[in-house]
Amino acid sequence: EKEGFEHFTLKEIFEQPKGVRETLMRRLNSQNEIVLEGVTLTADILKDINKVYIVACGTAYHAGLVGRRAIEMFAKIPVECDVASEFRYRDPFVDEKTLFIAVSQSGETLDTLQSLREAKRKGARILSIVNVVGSSVARESDDLLYTWAGPEIGVASTKAYTTQLIAFYLLALYMGKLNGRLEEHKYFEMIEALKLMPEKITEVLDQSKEIQKLAAAQFNNEKVFFMGRGVDCDIAYEGSLKLKEISYINSFAIAAGELKHGTIALIEDNTFVVAMATQDKLYEKMLSNIKEVKARGAYVFAIAKEGNDQLTKTADEVFFIPTTLDALTPILSVIPTQLLAYYVSALRGNDVDKPRNLAKSVTVE
Ligand code: M6R
Repeated sequence: EKEGFEHFTLKEIFEQPKGVRETLMRRLNSQNEIVLEGVTLTADILKDINKVYIVACGTAYHAGLVGRRAIEMFAKIPVECDVASEFRYRDPFVDEKTLFIAVSQSGETLDTLQSLREAKRKGARILSIVNVVGSSVARESDDLLYTWAGPEIGVASTKAYTTQLIAFYLLALYMGKLNGRLEEHKYFEMIEALKLMPEKITEVLDQSKEIQKLAAAQFNNEKVFFMGRGVDCDIAYEGSLKLKEISYINSFAIAAGELKHGTIALIEDNTFVVAMATQDKLYEKMLSNIKEVKARGAYVFAIAKEGNDQLTKTADEVFFIPTTLDALTPILSVIPTQLLAYYVSALRGNDVDKPRNLAKSVTVE
């Protein structure tokens, strides 16, 4: 059932336009209003919520980082985002005024499930973003927002991630409208931009050959790191995890502003740096970070929005994603990082769909 693709992972990367369309369009009515079937959060309930906790593991946690920004930006409620194995053991301050959001593709990750139970015991309202219908996390939640990614076979999470992002944008806009903190024109601007996403993802996938070429040139490079600012930092974390998980390259990610606080010491000739530079208000700052690593011999692969042409003079290679609202770039900018991880892994002859030492769903503590 790989439908002509060499691996499930690649097939699933290419299924993202469909997963994103399903997750989004099933929730929009003809007036562009968001209808969330499994969510019974009312304006009254939301009025009493003064804090949101997003808790998950791995890639789902990285989706949560983007979700945190979206909820703070559109619903203007303070949000914390935590990895489940940490949340559980640090006696977090949770009460009846807390909305606890669990994110999980499988809905069976034990740390996420136990965190949910702990939050529930403390009186929080539980909302989950889950892909597998009827899973444990789904069953134990008050509110449920399914991602419609379809089954994900590859251990590396790809389409689950982009559909989790869509679920978060929908939820953030929904909450912002419900509590009256989101202006109408901003709401509709976001909805219009979201509806263009499946097409734009396809445009990105159409450029996969560029990434394939880059992978062919760099797949033996063991000195790699990712950097970004703002929401690009969240994508740097996700891109780096994907690369290390399936290529076994010792990659890591940093907030680009932290470069001079340590990491720059690692840069030497041909260190491969993936620089995420999609955010308008942080663009100049990223440009200087790119120049700093270039000056020390790094090979820089930048990911930016169409139109930022001066980057081609600064970075060694630039991948352009279609323009969109800055809040929505993660849906597009993560895709070249997924493709890079995939092609590097395949070129190294790894078992891409089943990387060593990993299980699809971690049901032990
Ligand atoms: O099923 P879950 O979304 O709860 O799984 C969480 C993580 O184990 C998972 O995202 C893992 O990090 C992936 N293999 C990353 O690609």
